Amino acid sequence: MNNTKLMIIGLLVPALLLIPFSIISFYTDFANKNPDPLQVTVSFNGKNYDAVEGKKAFEQYQCMDCHTIVGNGAYFAPDLTRVYKRTGGNGASLAGIIQSGFPSKGMPPMRDRGMGNEDAYRLVAFLKYTDMLDTNGWPNNGSWDRDGGLDGTAAENIRPMGIWQVVAGIVFFNLIIFALVLAYERAKVGNKT
Ligand code: HEC
Repeated sequence: MNNTKLMIIGLLVPALLLIPFSIISFYTDFANKNPDPLQVTVSFNGKNYDAVEGKKAFEQYQCMDCHTIVGNGAYFAPDLTRVYKRTGGNGASLAGIIQSGFPSKGMPPMRDRGMGNEDAYRLVAFLKYTDMLDTNGWPNNGSWDRDGGLDGTAAENIRPMGIWQVVAGIVFFNLIIFALVLAYERAKVGNKT
């Protein structure tokens, strides 16, 4: 094998490596998959409310005095990150839940704090957004029941091994290329003698 061939192989292997790596880069968990909160909206009475307005309402009505979002806040009431899905992904019913509260269980009716439909739907937009956050599976689909046990929802299947399987695949891919080059060179040497 002469130097030119070695050089070509040396260039070809990284060039071929680039292809699977480029493809994988679109499939990794490193990419930010969270949506733009200004684009997450719910409509009510012909008006759109977005998650950024909802975040302001969330602060204004001090939901975090009792609840958590991705675990941040107070631990009196269930985590709200996935509450949009948990309550069926229905804006109207979630807005109703928030306005009516659960007085017997300790959540004040937000209507009593002056919350109209507009703010209720802003909050729905915010909770729709938190439901779309990539939290790597946390807190499953559910929340904590107030009795301290996990709710019945099945845990999401998180597979941290995935990326290593991909790396192993690349290594094998390269071994095959080397094996082919080697076999080719050997065959050529064999033909000459
Ligand atoms: C004073 C404490 C308190 C505040 C403030 C509060 N909540 Fe709650 N909230 C609770 C409690 C307690 C529950 C749980 C009721 C139960 O056990 O079913 C609850 C339940 C909920 C639920 C249903 C949860 C589920 O898992 O189904 C939603 C949605 C919710 N709250 C939204 C809000 C929003 C939005 C705000 C702010 C506008 C807010 N809460 C403010 C105490 C509070």
